[in-house]
Amino acid sequence: MRKLILFILLIFMPFGAFASDQPEVSRRLDLSPEAIERGKAAFMAHCMACHGLKYAGIQPAMDAATAQASFGVVPPDLSLMASARGKGTEGAIYIYRLLTTYYVDEKGQVKNLAFKEETQGDGTIAMPQPIASDDPQLQEKAMDIAAYLHRTADPYEVGRVRIGKYVIAYMVILTAFLFALNRITWKNVKKPKE
Ligand code: HEC
Repeated sequence: MRKLILFILLIFMPFGAFASDQPEVSRRLDLSPEAIERGKAAFMAHCMACHGLKYAGIQPAMDAATAQASFGVVPPDLSLMASARGKGTEGAIYIYRLLTTYYVDEKGQVKNLAFKEETQGDGTIAMPQPIASDDPQLQEKAMDIAAYLHRTADPYEVGRVRIGKYVIAYMVILTAFLFALNRITWKNVKKPKE
């Protein structure tokens, strides 16, 4: 029995290691259905003019040629952006920071701190500030949009985690069962004959 417990503990060791680097960031990101709904609405109001979400069937209001002429670059599709900019919830947190770290430098130029760190450039960004700094709901909207884009980048995350729990439970029970079966099967064979 002690061997069995040890065995099960050993199986779970790697899961402990995975779990430890997540909670820090995800605690700050509200992934409740309400937050994601709010994020979707805020996305439609503040981002859809320029960005599409092609895997969610959302086209940008502005066509690529007009955007290219206006900003010098076509605004990227944001479907997978949250996954592209970091693992776990890091990409979503980056999007939150991108929306909340616009600043004006000493020469009066509009720049972005998160973009500066990401591109290791001087902070110059072709995207005009989408949500004004004096919008009293800037932080909340940015966080909700980040949550929404986290979900569009990985829509099956919720189901995967839920099913994953059952799979792990199933494997633990199966392991215990097979261990017991193995012992019963070999019980008489292994016994030294005197
Ligand atoms: C007026 C047009 C416009 C609006 C509105 C807009 N964006 Fe952008 N966005 C751009 C352009 C242009 C770029 C390309 C920036 C660059 O590469 O310098 C961009 C780039 C981005 C990027 C990629 C940054 C990176 O790391 O490469 C993200 C993420 C993004 N936008 C999110 C948003 C979100 C979220 C909103 C809504 C809150 C939004 N944008 C609203 C024009 C827009």
